[in-house]
Order: sequence, then C-alpha cells, then structure tokens
Amino acid sequence: MTNAIDALSERIFGALVGAAELCTVELGRELGLYTVLRDGPQTPGTLAKAAGIDERYAREWLEQQAAAGFLVVADGSFGLADGVAEVLLDEDGPAYAGAAGAFALGVALLTPRVIEAFRTGAGVPYSDYGHVRHGIAGFNRPMFTYLLTGEWLPAVPEIDARLRAQPGASVLDLGCGMGYSSVAMARAYPSITVRGVDLDEHSIAEARRIAAEAGVADRVSFMTGDAAETGGSYDLITVFEALHDMGDPVGVLRNARGLLTAGGSVLIADERVSDEFTAPAGEVERLQYAFSVLHCLPATRAEDPVVANGTVLRAPTLLAWAREAGYAESEVLGVENDFWRFYRLR
Ligand SMILES: C[S@@+](CC[C@H](N)C(=O)[O-])C[C@H]1O[C@@H](n2cnc3c(N)ncnc32)[C@H](O)[C@@H]1O
Repeated sequence: MTNAIDALSERIFGALVGAAELCTVELGRELGLYTVLRDGPQTPGTLAKAAGIDERYAREWLEQQAAAGFLVVADGSFGLADGVAEVLLDEDGPAYAGAAGAFALGVALLTPRVIEAFRTGAGVPYSDYGHVRHGIAGFNRPMFTYLLTGEWLPAVPEIDARLRAQPGASVLDLGCGMGYSSVAMARAYPSITVRGVDLDEHSIAEARRIAAEAGVADRVSFMTGDAAETGGSYDLITVFEALHDMGDPVGVLRNARGLLTAGGSVLIADERVSDEFTAPAGEVERLQYAFSVLHCLPATRAEDPVVANGTVLRAPTLLAWAREAGYAESEVLGVENDFWRFYRLR
C-alpha cells in the first residue's frame, strides 16, 4: 500500500474508534453510570444495583470503558481514571466536554433526514435535532460560565462599565438557545435585565427552567421568536454562535441596530475560521464544516432563508453583512478563543 492509503486507512480507523467510544460515553452519561462511579469504585454488581441497570450490560460497559482508558481496574473494581470527573461529569467546570456525545449523536440520528434533504433541497428544522440543543448548550456552557463575564465582556471596557452602571442596563441575547449566556450575564452584573430570544421553543422552555434554578428569573426573561423581528430597546445586544444559523442575518443585524440605545453595541461571537476557503483546513474548521453539512445548513434552510451561510461564517462575510445592515463601525475584537471570533458593531 502507498503511504497515502496507509495514512487514510489509519485515520478512518481512528475516527471509528473515537465515534464508537463517544457513543459509549453518552450511554454512560444518560444512564448515570459515571455519577455512580464518582461515589467510588464499582463492581458490575454494585454498579448495576446503584444505577438500576442489567448486570451483564454493566460488566461489558465497565470493561469497555477500562479498555478505552476512561476507567482503571483494581481488585476487580472499576474506578474513574484521572480527569474523567472534570471532563465528563462537572457540567459547570472549565474542562467539561461531556456534551460531545450528545452533539455527535444528535447529528448522527438526523443523518437519514439530511440525506433526504440533500436530494430535495429542503431543510431540517433545528427543533427536530433534539440532542443537538443539549450538545450545543453543554459544550458552550463552560465558556459562558468562565469566559463570557470573566474575559469577553471585560475586554470591552465601555460595555463592561455600562453593565455595571445604574440605572441597570438592558441586554438582548439573540439566538440564546438554552440561555446559559443570558444567565451568566445576569449573575455577573446584578443590576441588568436580560431578554433571551430564540426560534426554538424547546430551548426556550429549558432556558426558563435554567434561569429559575439559577435564581435570576426575576431579571432574565425568555421569548420564542425570530431575531429579525424582535422589538424593544437595549444597551447591549449579544449573538453567541447563532448569527450563522439565522436565515436572514442582515435583517437580524439591521433590526438589532434599530433596537440599540444611544451608545449601545452589538457583541457577536461566531466561528473562528479562516478568512478564505482553505483545504485542507485546521481541526476547528473541519469540525465546523462537518456540523455545517449535518446540522447548521439544513437547519437554516428550514427557516425559508434569505441567506443560508452554514456554520463556516468568515470574518469578511460578517463584516460585509454589518456594513449592509448600516453599522457605522464594526471591529474584530482581540479576544483569544480557540473556537470563536468576537465582533463589536455600533
Ligand atoms: C448554535 S445555537 C447557539 C445557541 C446559544 N447561543 C449557545 O451558544 O448555546 C444557534 C441558535 O440560534 C437559534 N436561531 C436560529 N435562527 C434563529 C432566528 N432566526 N431567530 C432566533 N434564533 C434563531 C437556534 O434555534 C439555536 O438555538
């Protein structure tokens, strides 16, 4: 075999191992198996009893997880390997990546619908993807908890100062999904009120529950609706990883401009991809393109879109949309992040 054939075969095999193991991680999370293991090492019998599952299945999963390196075995009992609690269990921790399984499974389950959509040109509504909303929310949550109010907003001192000032600022979070960004902002800035808007009613129901559990429901409200048609008046409008999903991004930006108070800004975070199509691309862009094919593009096409950009929203495209929407100033912010690039429009 040539080197190219060898290398590609190895790559595909590695991807298959990763995909299969990710599904077993999701299985362990859904059944609460890692949560039981957090209490201490388990045998198949004790795990089966504590989690309410069949013992034979428990043994197979424990052995498989140990073979994969997620568990360690000693004296016939299986315990969490170093780092597993932080990466797969601590949903609010900075290292959490346990939502990756829900993300992958969510797009995989809808692939037959996407295959049909490729033939017909139709869309697949965001709300039909189910698991994906939890995957996205879970994946982005640590960034909202630790970076949004710890780094990103303080990086624009004018915005940070307005959010700290009296009378309390009003914030609009467009495409808020399950609302972790809205809740994080309300927690960090006790005087502000936040309104989250999203087209997906299931996400909005989850967002209301999450805000209530966080004790900020008196200052954070959520509404199902199209970002292009939202009303009100706001000192800050945020759009986190959602502009590329919107069917009429220029309409959304134009509408947002009309909702800003004097001195107000729009803060956008969207994918950190290269300025031009480049192939082969880096890992982050490869992930964005894969999700674009399987999820974002079909979901946007279900919106009866003016533009169906897909996940890969490049900086020159976004800045051109901002000009078209009538913003006098638009800038790329110098905020470092592996996944997202940040923009401020005024
Ligand atoms: C990738 S998710 C990001 C959600 C959330 N901002 C986060 O970071 O977790 C994109 C969101 O945009 C929402 N969306 C798409 N088109 C929209 C529109 N026209 N108006 C409002 N929300 C929209 C989707 O329903 C979805 O919740």
